[in-house]
Parts: sequence; structure tokens; C-alpha cells
Amino acid sequence: MTQQPWDDLGEPMPSEEFQSITDAVIANIERVIEGKTAIVRLALAVLLAEGHLLIEDVPGVGKTKLAKALARSIDCSVRRIQFTPDLLPSDVTGVNVYNQETRDFEFRPGAVFANLVVGDEINRASPKTQSALLECMEERQVTVDGTTYELRSPFMVVATQNPIDMEGTYPLPEAQRDRFTARIAMGYPDPKAELAMLDGHAADDPLQRLRPVTDAPTVRRLIATVRTVHVADPVKQYAVDLVTATRESPELRLGASPRATLQLLRTARAVAALDGRDYVLPDDVQSLAVPVLAHRVVPTADAQLARRTTDAVIADLVHRLPVPHHRPRAPHPRTIDGATSWGVALEPRRR
Ligand SMILES: Nc1ncnc2c1ncn2[C@@H]1O[C@H](COP(=O)(O)OP(=O)(O)OP(=O)(O)O)[C@@H](O)[C@H]1O
Ligand SMILES: [Mg+2]
Repeated sequence: MTQQPWDDLGEPMPSEEFQSITDAVIANIERVIEGKTAIVRLALAVLLAEGHLLIEDVPGVGKTKLAKALARSIDCSVRRIQFTPDLLPSDVTGVNVYNQETRDFEFRPGAVFANLVVGDEINRASPKTQSALLECMEERQVTVDGTTYELRSPFMVVATQNPIDMEGTYPLPEAQRDRFTARIAMGYPDPKAELAMLDGHAADDPLQRLRPVTDAPTVRRLIATVRTVHVADPVKQYAVDLVTATRESPELRLGASPRATLQLLRTARAVAALDGRDYVLPDDVQSLAVPVLAHRVVPTADAQLARRTTDAVIADLVHRLPVPHHRPRAPHPRTIDGATSWGVALEPRRR
């Protein structure tokens, strides 16, 4: 494998170290969020895939709690923005203020200058303020009065929004939804988890007792590790076929973008690494199709009339598209890194 520049992320880490740190983060968040393991793992995968997360669901299902628990589990800078109609773009990006003593302007950084930015109720801010945030998310930098400031890695925006009670809100336009790597819905906890929540949360809020289990430099190394995860050509082809299918689907007016394809594979790498593998399986891509693609595509008027959700359309496409096959016994020798030409290891291999 060719050596890649790591920016300033640091060295990739051995598998055991990666597993023990990521397991600790997941366990920590699960002390606060009951019965949502898959969602907690996906949130962490998005962080490690250098993406941003949109949590969309009805009130009171733990959206803000999940965002805060993730932020608290990592010893890094965290800012929370409560989006309201009067929030200004400069509250997000920062502003130059005049300093009487030095008789000069100095930059006062806005809320986006943090490793983890929790944007609560993003659809309550004006489109201008939303787009200020979404620009920073994509560019990973902020330009104020002609000067550009870099945002430090890790940088993740976790935005929440409530699809009910839309009055007086500004729903994110499609172009901006595309900036989010994944969209998740929390869903109700099952009755057992809800009961556990009643016990755990009876006296006080366990979030207050949550302590960080890792820090920003370590998260950078986790990201560097995820970047080394191998994706074989047939798996890449599968991701491209899936995205192409969204563009050709008669039920969709707008298909997924090339940005979506990139983010699909990045997140698949992170999910594979969380699973203890150093290669991506077609299953990783499949499991991410709905959370990574469904929020970016737009249904046709007919599909809307038929009450087809984009989740259902994407799930159908996944169902129909042929999957590259595992080969339990390869007819040809292994390649150097232990993967077959299908990119699937002959025997399950731990990193
Ligand atoms: N799965 C869950 N596990 C543990 N606690 C939960 C869960 N779901 C909801 N709660 C609890 O419900 C309360 C409301 O959660 P939270 O404020 O995060 O909701 P929200 O989805 O952000 O709501 P809103 O849309 O009104 O902002 C919190 O006290 C949280 O602990
Ligand atoms: Mg909330």
C-alpha cells in the first residue's frame, strides 16, 4: 500500500488499541442512551469518517442527549448552538471586534471553532445562518473579512431537528442536507430499554456524571487508522452502482451526489474498523445505504402521493442490486494483503 500523507492526524494505531478506545466511547455513551447501540455506533462511525451527523426525529427521544453524550465522552472543545430565528451568521463564524487597548481589530471566533459542534434545532435558524454553518462544514475553514481561519481536526457538527411542528421553521434545502454524511432517526426505545431509563435516570441526570474516555489527539489517530482500511475494487464498484441506481430510479426526482458516494465509502471504512476489520465488506455499504443516502434524494410527486419514503426507496434499491459475492475458497492465490480479488479476505481476519 502506498504511503499517504496523514495531514497532522498522527500515526494509525494497532487494532487492539483501536478496539479498546472505540468500545470505551460506545460504552460511555450507552450509560446515558438506553437501547440504541446501532445508532451510537453509527454516530461514532460518522465522527471517524470525518463527517457530520443530522439527527432528525420527534421530540423527546434523546436527540440532544446523544449529541451531548458523544461530546462529553471526548476531551475536546465542544460548543453548543441553540438555533433561533435571530441567530446571526457571525454568531456561528465569528466577527472582528475593535480592541480599544491595542487600537486594532481582533478576531473573536464564533461557535463553529470547536472539535464538536452541537447545533440544536437547526431548522429554527434563518437560511442565512444555516448556510454559514453549512459552508464551514464543507470547507473546514472560516473566512471573515478576507482572512481565512482553519478549523482543527476532529471537526464534527451534530445537528438536530424535529420534523413535527414545522411552523416558523426553515427546513434545510436539499443542497444543504447533502453536507451531512448521515441522517439518523433515534426511534422510540423498546419497553425494556425505556424501563431501564426510568431506573437510571430516576434521581439525577447521568449525563452530568459522564467523564471523557478519550481526547482529541487520540481521535485524530483513530481517524488516521480508519483511512488505512482497504476497499477492494468490486466493493467500490458496488457503491457506485448503488448511487447510480438512485439517479436512475423512476421514484426519485434527485439522486445522490458524488459527494454521497465518497461519504458512503468513508463511513463504510469506519464501520469496518469498528467491527475489527481492515477491509470493507459489501455488507458495510448495504447497512449504510439508508442513513447515508436517503436524506439527500428527493422523491417524485408520484412517489410522494403514494407515501413512499426515501428510506423505503433506497432500501428497495439495495434489495434489488446484485451484491459482489464472498468467495469462501478462492480458485486463485491470495493477493499480498490477504484479500482476494474480490477484496474479501479468504478467512475472517482480525486486524
Ligand atoms: N433512549 C433513551 N435513553 C435514555 N434516555 C432517553 C432516551 N430517549 C429519551 N431519553 C430521555 O428523554 C429526555 C429528552 O431527551 P432529549 O432532550 O435529548 O430529547 P430531544 O429528542 O432532543 O427532544 P427535542 O426535540 O424536544 O429537543 C432526556 O431526559 C433523555 O435522557
Ligand atoms: Mg433537543
